[in-house]
Amino acid sequence: MLLELAGARRVVFVGGKGGVGKTAVASATALAQARAGRRVLVVSTDPAHNLGHLWERTVGDRITPLARGLRSGSGEPGALDGIEVDPVATTEAHLAAVGGTIRRLMPEHLAGEVDKHMQLARDSPGAHESAVLERIAELVDLGLREYDLVVFDTAPSGHTARLMALPEIMSAWTEGLLRRRGRSERFGAALRGLEDRDAAEAVVGTQRLPEPAEERDAQIRRILLRRRERFESLRTVLVDEQSCAFVIVLAAERLPVLETVELHRQLAGAGVQVGALVVNKRSPSDAGRLLADRRALEDAHLTTLRQSLPGIPLLQVPLLPGDIVGEQALDRFGTALADASDQGVG
Ligand SMILES: Nc1ncnc2c1ncn2[C@@H]1O[C@H](COP(=O)(O)OP(=O)(O)OP(=O)(O)O)[C@@H](O)[C@H]1O
Ligand SMILES: [Mg+2]
Repeated sequence: MLLELAGARRVVFVGGKGGVGKTAVASATALAQARAGRRVLVVSTDPAHNLGHLWERTVGDRITPLARGLRSGSGEPGALDGIEVDPVATTEAHLAAVGGTIRRLMPEHLAGEVDKHMQLARDSPGAHESAVLERIAELVDLGLREYDLVVFDTAPSGHTARLMALPEIMSAWTEGLLRRRGRSERFGAALRGLEDRDAAEAVVGTQRLPEPAEERDAQIRRILLRRRERFESLRTVLVDEQSCAFVIVLAAERLPVLETVELHRQLAGAGVQVGALVVNKRSPSDAGRLLADRRALEDAHLTTLRQSLPGIPLLQVPLLPGDIVGEQALDRFGTALADASDQGVG
C-alpha cells in the first residue's frame, strides 16, 4: 500500500518520533521505487543523520549514489541517490549569501553594522529552520526536475510539523516586506534629491560609489520576489495531494499514538495530507507470554489510533530479527512494508 502511495507521488515526507524507523521506512520505500524503475532521491533533514549508517557509507551534504543499475521488469533501470542536509553548513552558506547581498547594496561605511547584524542573525531563533526550509525548497525543485520521486527522511515530529507550516508563514512575511518596501520606495523617491547629494559625498569620502538608490531598491525587490516564489512553489507542492504525501511512522504505544494524533492535526492545519500511518516493530503473538501480552496492549493502543484517525491507511510492520543495515536488509524491510496491507487492528 505504501509502495502504491509512493508510486503515485513525486514527493513523500516520512516523519515520527526518534528511533521509530523513519530512516528504514524512507530508505526501503525509496529503494523499492528505484527497483520499479524510477529515479529516486532520498533526503535526510534530521540533524542526527543515520542515512549513511543504514547504507553503510559516507553520505554527507552532497548527492551520493546509493544504488545503481536497478533492473525493473522492463524499461529504464532505476537509480537511487541520497543526501544528508547539514543544517550548520546550510545556515552558514545562507547567511554568507544574504550578508554578501546586503553588503553590496549598502554604503561601505555600514559594512561593520551589516557584519554585526549577520552575527546576531546566526544565533537568532529560526535561523536554522529557515535555512533548512530553503534547502528543502531547493531540493524539491531539483527533485521535480531531475528525479521521479524525492523521499524526505525528516527530524522527529514537532520540528517537522512546524517546517511544513513555515512556507506559508515565510511567504506572508516576505509579502509584508515587499509591501513595506513599496511604501518606502515612494517615500524614497520624494527624498531622492537629498540622497543623491549624500551619495556624491560618499564618493569623495570612501572612493566607492554606492549603487544608486533606485537600482538598490529594485535589487532588493527582485531578491524578495524570488524568495517568495520559492516558498510559494514549495507550498503548492506540499498541499497538492496528487503529488505529495506525509507518512507518519510510530510505535504502538500510548504516547506515540497521542503524538501521532497531534502531528496529524498540525499537518492537516498546514494543509498537508497524511497518506499513511506505519506502525513499526509490532510484537509477535506467538513468541512467548511477554510478547503476546505486549501485542495485546499494542492492539488496544491501535484501536485508539484507528478511532482518532479513521480513514487513514494503517500499516503494521512486525519486529524483525536483526538490524536493518545494507541493501539486502532494506529489501527485506521493503517486503515487510509491501506485505503490510491495511489490515484491521488485531
Ligand atoms: N521492524 C523493525 N524490526 C527490527 N528493527 C527495526 C525495525 N525497524 C527499525 N528497526 C531498527 O530500529 C533502529 C531505528 O531505526 P531507524 O534508524 O530507521 O529509526 P529513525 O526513526 O530513523 O531513528 P532516528 O530518529 O534516530 O533517526 C535501527 O537500529 C533499525 O535497524
Ligand atoms: Mg533516522
